[in-house]
Amino acid sequence: MTLTSLDRTAEFKRRIETREARIGIVGMGYVGLPLALLFSEERFVITGFDVDPRKVETLNLGGSYIVRIPAAEIEQARKSGFSATADYARIADMDVVIICVPTPLSEYHEPDLSYVTGTVRSIAPHLREGQLIVLESTTYPGTTEEAVVPLLEKGNPSGLCVARDTVSHGFYVAFSPEREDPGNDSIARRDIPKVVGGCGPAAAELASAVYGSIFSRIVPVSSPEAAEMTKLLENIYRCVNIALVNELKQLCMRMGIDIFEVIEAAKTKPFGFQAFYPGPGLGGHCIPIDPFYLSWKAKQFDFHTRFIELAGEVNIAMPYFVVENIIEALSQRRKSLSGSRVLILGLAYKRDIDDLRESPSLTIIELLQKRGAIVEYNDPFIPSAGQGRKYALNMTSTPLDRVPEFDCVVIATDHSQYNYRDIVSKAQLVVDTRNATRGIEAVDIVRC
Ligand SMILES: NC(=O)c1ccc[n+]([C@@H]2O[C@H](COP(=O)([O-])OP(=O)(O)OC[C@H]3O[C@@H](n4cnc5c(N)ncnc54)[C@H](O)[C@@H]3O)[C@@H](O)[C@H]2O)c1
Repeated sequence: MTLTSLDRTAEFKRRIETREARIGIVGMGYVGLPLALLFSEERFVITGFDVDPRKVETLNLGGSYIVRIPAAEIEQARKSGFSATADYARIADMDVVIICVPTPLSEYHEPDLSYVTGTVRSIAPHLREGQLIVLESTTYPGTTEEAVVPLLEKGNPSGLCVARDTVSHGFYVAFSPEREDPGNDSIARRDIPKVVGGCGPAAAELASAVYGSIFSRIVPVSSPEAAEMTKLLENIYRCVNIALVNELKQLCMRMGIDIFEVIEAAKTKPFGFQAFYPGPGLGGHCIPIDPFYLSWKAKQFDFHTRFIELAGEVNIAMPYFVVENIIEALSQRRKSLSGSRVLILGLAYKRDIDDLRESPSLTIIELLQKRGAIVEYNDPFIPSAGQGRKYALNMTSTPLDRVPEFDCVVIATDHSQYNYRDIVSKAQLVVDTRNATRGIEAVDIVRC
């Protein structure tokens, strides 16, 4: 008996409802692994695909390599059938394949889609009729239709095409951005509404059914492009507003006004204002990178994205601003940066996480080293650091009991487990880029 496409859609949804559907998640990183665990909690049998054999092995032994994911959660998922593999042939067993691989920038600040295209090329030979492929990696509008769909269509030996409605045969494709905010426990992941844009209504319907089983609310949009752009709007909004407060912080410092006091006061307005906070610069795999995916794409439309460029300019300059303040603070104590010992507190790009990708702390360390400072760092989440931004750092975390030895201690990331009062009382000089020492009165604190 052959199934009509309508029957196939109904059958797909039945398999989702009964948890018979097999879900494969490609990329077992910060996005893919938590997503796999969320599906697993909802009784789906999940297969995690990754090209990194160490990750595959760790997961299959019930271990974790992400600090905020306890090994017990992996172990629990293993009991519910979760396994990891590097073998793409197993894609053929999946009903749904969700792609969560990196989307970095190239050396020339252009989108590097090689992880996405490499993944899609590996999936294509194993595609089968009725499968749903969803891209979650953040990218410019048009990627799903212009890069993913053609590679899947070209690369599968059965000549399958994307099914854009319920009567066509083929496979289904959708884009659904990941909106997680690592380290932010104020909202459960399942309560972050999930935006879904399908290549046609059937794909949107199936992707909504899949995500509807783990997310409280699905937000369908008309196309993958609209979903891709939604994610970029969210991140650009954040990037631009952080740049705005970073610029106003510098002005406030000149004017002798406390920007943090101003933000707290502005925040009391019940409408039309959302608080963003200044810091030593942008970090992470998203906010410093994603906006440039759009500026690159915009050029194809003869469009110059001025807000993105300006925000990038301000945010990129922030580590330099911090270093200038360190130099000034030391010189007021009759010390030169060259030869001074500086301890950076916090290597992660933000509080209470173990992710140092694009972290401004790395740039600050490199700028300080270049100017002759002897630099060490402490980070409770990052015991050692190999690669910096431009060269290998090969450093290990310095214990906090050595704080008094340093000419300057720089609070670059405000991890919540630091005892700031204790650090201030022991340090010779503290440069605080996060307002972590608010409420502590001491002459040896410079806030910038
Ligand atoms: N980290 C975040 O907070 C966050 C939030 C929202 C969106 N995103 C987006 O999600 C995507 C993934 O980010 P991430 O932080 O999870 O990255 P990550 O580097 O933590 O994980 C990516 C994983 O993909 C694996 N991988 C790379 N190429 C592969 C291939 N060809 N086949 C199989 N596996 C492969 C890597 O080994 C790695 O384990 C990016 O587009 C990012 O912009 C990330």
